[in-house]
Amino acid sequence: MSIFSRIAGTGSYLPAKVLTNKDLEGAVETSDEWIFSRTGIRQRHIAGEGEFASDLALQASRHALEAAGVTPAELSLIIVATTTPDMVFPSTACILQAKLGAKTCPAFDVQAVCSGFVYALTTADHFMRSGQYQNILVVGAEVYSRILDWEDRTTCVLFGDGAGAVVLKRSDAPGILSSHLHADGSHAHILSVPGSVSGGKISGRPLLQMEGNAVFKFAVRVLEEVAEEALAANRMEKSQIDWLIPHQANIRIIQATAKKLNLPMSKVVTTVDRHANTSAASVPLALDTAVRDGRICGGQHVLLEGVGGGFTWGALMVRM
Ligand code: ACO
Repeated sequence: MSIFSRIAGTGSYLPAKVLTNKDLEGAVETSDEWIFSRTGIRQRHIAGEGEFASDLALQASRHALEAAGVTPAELSLIIVATTTPDMVFPSTACILQAKLGAKTCPAFDVQAVCSGFVYALTTADHFMRSGQYQNILVVGAEVYSRILDWEDRTTCVLFGDGAGAVVLKRSDAPGILSSHLHADGSHAHILSVPGSVSGGKISGRPLLQMEGNAVFKFAVRVLEEVAEEALAANRMEKSQIDWLIPHQANIRIIQATAKKLNLPMSKVVTTVDRHANTSAASVPLALDTAVRDGRICGGQHVLLEGVGGGFTWGALMVRM
């Protein structure tokens, strides 16, 4: 009998503090009109002082575990996707494991920037198919507010903090139908945080920098390509996608992708207006939003898509 993964529960968490575009008008030379018309973003959530990626991950994980009916002790693996870990090491996944009280199950981080959750979910699915695992927790958690230059209006208006999680259960039927990952390191320079820890000091500039136009064009192209790849692998027509959940970077990237796939926006889950770009957390946050408000139901086909720094990109076709 074949072994598959099924999404048994979803959860998410957003920090209490909300920063609106209006609030940003006082900090940098920008306007709600500029931000909303170029990005679709109205507000973002910002982690409190002393609130780390593992804290956001903990809350999202608890919601996902509860929804799945799985206890921390029953987890056989924890994977956290994050670009903003609590510290250099231990991994945020190990810190989360301790906070959950999940004891000795393996735990590790995946670093693929805004594709992080898609990479982590794919990794979890492959572990599951090995037959050695029963319940896997996959989390995307970010505190991008810590790596932004709050004086750079071209980047600081785009991002927010948050976490989303899913619990995968071993199943005889899919579940995750297929996954498709890609990377091209030759585009590293168009989106990066070019800093590191060296000799007890920070070397380089540990703040996000981006060539916005280049990122925009790259994202639209690869999101269409990888969606076509997922459809072909499953011999599916575009019309068979019930829900598209793309990485939530910018409403114009999402609209352009939906148009290329002939999907009406009514079939696309968008949270970018309220959450902004939460990097590895954006896809599981959007998934949980649409599961909990009843839009996504059992048996439906959902296409999850990520794209981000590296450059990395990927997709999963999922039957809920
Ligand atoms: N407020 C007001 N004016 C601004 C702001 C701001 N926040 N930011 C830039 N401007 C100005 C620029 O300085 C420029 O002024 P100028 O003409 O006097 O030089 C003008 O607005 C136009 O700037 P552009 O960069 O050409 O604006 P564009 O329409 O391309 O929009 C944006 C910029 C929103 C960043 C767009 O390129 C984009 O969405 N790119 C995708 C980037 C993205 O989503 N990245 C997320 C991370 S990557 C990922 O998750 C995959």
